[in-house]
This record gives sequence, C-alpha cells and structure tokens, in this order.
Amino acid sequence: MEFKIKTGELATLKTPCLVLGVFEKSKLTGVAEDIDAKSGNRIADILKKGDMDGEVGKTLMLYDLPEISADRVLLLGLGKKKGFDRTAFRKALAALFPQLQQSRARDAVLALPDPLPTDTYTSVRDVVLTAEDKAYRYTRTKDDKQPLKTPLKRLTLWVPKKQEIAPAELAARHGSAMASGISLAKELGNLPGNICTPSYLADTARDLANRFKELQVEVLEEEQMASLGMGALLSVSRGSRQPAKLICMHYRGGKSGDKPIVLVGKGLTFDAGGISLKPAAEMDEMKYDMCGGASVFGAMQAACELELPINLIGVVPSSENLPDGDANKPGDIVTSMSGQTIEILNTDAEGRLILCDALTYCERFEPGIVIDLATLTGACVVALGKHAAGLFTQDDKLAAEILTAGETAGDRAWRMPLWDDYQSQLDSNFADMANVGSRDGGAITAACFLSRFTKKYRWAHLDIAGITWLTGKEKGGTGRPVALLTQLLLDRA
Ligand code: BES
Ligand code: MN
Ligand code: ZN
Repeated sequence: MEFKIKTGELATLKTPCLVLGVFEKSKLTGVAEDIDAKSGNRIADILKKGDMDGEVGKTLMLYDLPEISADRVLLLGLGKKKGFDRTAFRKALAALFPQLQQSRARDAVLALPDPLPTDTYTSVRDVVLTAEDKAYRYTRTKDDKQPLKTPLKRLTLWVPKKQEIAPAELAARHGSAMASGISLAKELGNLPGNICTPSYLADTARDLANRFKELQVEVLEEEQMASLGMGALLSVSRGSRQPAKLICMHYRGGKSGDKPIVLVGKGLTFDAGGISLKPAAEMDEMKYDMCGGASVFGAMQAACELELPINLIGVVPSSENLPDGDANKPGDIVTSMSGQTIEILNTDAEGRLILCDALTYCERFEPGIVIDLATLTGACVVALGKHAAGLFTQDDKLAAEILTAGETAGDRAWRMPLWDDYQSQLDSNFADMANVGSRDGGAITAACFLSRFTKKYRWAHLDIAGITWLTGKEKGGTGRPVALLTQLLLDRA
C-alpha cells in the first residue's frame, strides 16, 4: 500500500472516500466539525437520527455531502472524547480497515483526528501498521475466501498543520518498513512445516541478501557445526531427515568499528517434542516454533530497507524436533559448543538446546548486545498470555531499552525475574546441567539455562511463545515482535 501525507483544504479534496472521526454522544473531531460546517451541518443532522453513536470502531458511510468533494464520507467512531487514547485509536483503526477494504474505494483519505491521542509521528505509524496488518492475506496454499473487491491501493493521511508533514512522512516510511518486516514474519510463520524447512529458511536469507547489497549471508551446514562442537544443536536435528542450518546474516550499515547488535531467533520449523512426544491436540501449531527466527528475518529486512546506520547480525539456528530411532532420548547427555555437558531430561525442551550453541557461536562477533527471541515455553504463555512477551535479563539498562522500545512500538514486553535462586532447578547428577527444571517457573528456568551460555556479552532473552501467533478462529502469525525489534534498532541508529 502506498501512503501519502497531505495538508490544506480538505473539503475540496477529491477522493473516493474521506474518513472522519466521531466521538461518543455525536461529538465531532475538530476536522469533522469543519467539514460539517461546510456541508451545512449535514453530518450533525444525520448523527441526530441516531444511526451512529461514535462507539469505538463503529462506522457509517455517507454519500453526497453538499459542498464536499469526496465521493463518500466514512464516519469512524473513536469512543469517549474524554480519555481518547492510543488504545482507543488503534481499536478504531483495526475496525476501519476491514471496512474500507470491503468498500469500493481503492483510494482513501484519512483525516487524522484532532485532538490526536499521541504525537503525529506515533499516530501515523499506528495507522500504517494497522492498515498493513489488516491488508495481509495468506494465499500461498489456498484460495483467498474473502478476496478484497477493490483492495486499498493508496491511503492519504491528512494532517491539519504544515509542521506535521515532516514527522508524518518519516512515520510513514518507518511504518512501511516495519510492516513489510511484519508481513514477512507472518508469512514464514504461517507456512507449513513441510514447506518451511530449515533449508527453506536458509533460502529466504539468501533471497534477502540478493535484494540488499549491504546484507551478506553465511549458512553453516551440519559438518561445520560438528567441527565447531555444537553437540547440543546437532542432537536435536539428529531425529530429523531435514538437515539443520545455522543461518547468519550480516548487515553492515554502521562504521566498521561499531559493535554489532546481534539478534538470535529460534528457528524450529516443526516441534513434535521428539521422544517426549507432545499430545496430538493443536500440535499443528508447532509449525510456529520458528517465529523467533522469522522475526529476526523481519527486523533484518526492515533495517535493510531503512538503511539504518548500524551493524546488525541475525543468527537463526534451524532444525526440526521429531521422534526417530536416532533422536535424543531422555537421559542422553550431550556436550555443547561451550564445553558444558547437558543431560536431556525432556526432549521437548529442544529450543534451548539449539539456542545455546548459537549463543556461544555469537561470542566471535564481539557483540554490543545480544537479544534472543524464542517460542521457548508454554509456561510463558500461561504467565503472560498473548499480550506481552516475557523479557529476561540481568542487565537493567538493556531491560529498560527493550521495554521502552516495546511501549513505543505498541508491541510490549514485560520483565520477569532471572534470579540465581532459580538456577539450582537445573542441577543434574550426571551432567553440568539438566535441560529442564520442575514445572514451577518454567519460563524462568528456561531463561536460566540460556544465561549459562551468555556470560561473555550483554544479553537479553524474549520468550515470544504467547505473542507471536493467535489461536482459534484467528489462527495465524502476528509478526510480533518485529515492531519492537525495529524500534530498538531505530532508537540505536
Ligand atoms: N516450542 C515449545 C514451547 C511452546 C509451547 C510454545 C506451547 C508455544 C506453545 C518448546 O519447545 C517446548 O516444548 N517447551 C516445553 C518445555 C518443557 C518440556 C520444560 C513446554 O513449554 O512445555
Ligand atoms: Mn519443544
Ligand atoms: Zn519448541
């Protein structure tokens, strides 16, 4: 979708559809008041009839407003005027775009409401992100059941003042890049395990490198991983016919001396649990177990599109986790690249096994910071549900940076403890550590496990198991936390 920013006379602007905000009790936004006055109070008259009360997300299409050049005027409910905030605005937008998409308009003008719930930049970016979120369709392996009659091709955002054009244009540019990263992450997540294999992810990285000249890709094969001593990662892929890949993407946009930001994403393309087999119900959803990796791809692509002046490395360890005669067995002991031995008490705790070797591998990049993203535990879903990613780190400054990026991007994380008190759950009689603790605090002991491989740099872990896909009727990837990551990169650039 193309986004344009405009200001100036709105009444005489020719467009198939002009969107105006209305608050509850039929209070008009400032800009809607202007249009109402110009049309001889036609809007106010219609609202008096009570067809539309300004409830958040409710809409009403009007035709032939006198003295107004737009073919249609769509009123959009914004909720209560007092307390109108970003949440209400985003909710209204989420309802608006599916409606616009089903209308006949290919082109629309959205007058940013005044008062705005946030600054111009944030509001415009929220519009762009929501518009693109609602425009996404998964069609790779099925017909689109609700094809858009006339897909929205262009959205013009009208701002009241000249000074708002520059921040709005910047927001549109940032928002578009974020949105295409989000779409990429959704698409990879939604692809089934028989298409989206470790090799497919490696090819996706190569495609990105072909598109962006600052991006270089190196894919480590199993032999190379074996010579590096990645016994933990390789133990997971032993039960699979698909060869594991360790995908490394280098984006060099910064100065050669700038320490890289390293993003590490779990790329488990299907997690059946291995010998500790998962129950059958909803097991299909374990195709999403590569969404940490998918969000690394998304953030990488956004950084490339925006040509951010930073050095960024994306690392995606990728494998399947299946039961097999050669698969890990409970009680098996493997040696990680760090030299630490691991007793595998549950083969379904495989994410940490592939991540720990990838994290040790990252030492060679002398990173400024390392953030890993993983659909690591069901326990994190229990703790935080679908709204916030679990953030684990002992680095308070880094925690603040990540939490702020999440707030700014509207893609939130919530900090969880990573106290040493939990570490003893990983004690093993036969190895340096076990790969699982008890059921209690499962998301925390998973993070504790990773912390043992990240001592040489500043590190944070995001457990994204709850946020990165939706279940039930809306089953599908969300593209989270690409927005948070891109925001963090923007903040650092
Ligand atoms: N990929 C799963 C985590 C997961 C579960 C994500 C449900 C989203 C929804 C991970 O590999 C896993 O199986 N974790 C186990 C760990 C346990 C064996 C300690 C879990 O959470 O049950
Ligand atoms: Mn698992
Ligand atoms: Zn898993």
